[in-house]
Amino acid sequence: MKAYCSKETGKIIDIGCGQSTYLLDFLDSKFDLYGVDIDQLQLNYLEQRINAANHNKERVNLSSEEFPTKDFVDIGAFDVIILSNLLHFYTKPEAKRFISDVLRFSSSGTYILVTVHTKDHYLANNKITSDSFLNHKKFRMII
Ligand SMILES: C[S@@+](CC[C@H](N)C(=O)[O-])C[C@H]1O[C@@H](n2cnc3c(N)ncnc32)[C@H](O)[C@@H]1O
Repeated sequence: MKAYCSKETGKIIDIGCGQSTYLLDFLDSKFDLYGVDIDQLQLNYLEQRINAANHNKERVNLSSEEFPTKDFVDIGAFDVIILSNLLHFYTKPEAKRFISDVLRFSSSGTYILVTVHTKDHYLANNKITSDSFLNHKKFRMII
């Protein structure tokens, strides 16, 4: 993202941020940072990661409201909008509506990063069981 974005100040929002590696990357920048996720547990982990990176958790404005949320309507357009691994939660019509909502928080020149799972993703075609989850090459039991 840093390589693409020529701006050095402004506002960045990560929607469905989870534990957002993206926001962590910008902690030392001059950007105002915003993260939104309906899963409070993920936001708690993100706060821990912010603290571990020697920043106060208030460095990032966090919201656990479902996006689009009124928490952000008065903030104006964002310079960077991140949608990482989020759109696969929606059907196509829902995703279109969601994108329209997201675009209301953008203006000309806003950078929008979208990443999605492909059909090659390990969860795409298989029902998830505890065994299939743990057997995936990305995970190891550490006990
Ligand atoms: C698969 S995780 C991706 C987390 C992170 N963006 C990443 O790439 O690792 C998707 C996250 O989006 C959140 N989410 C889904 N719909 C949302 C919405 N409408 N508003 C806010 N968060 C949402 C979920 O709670 C979940 O934590």
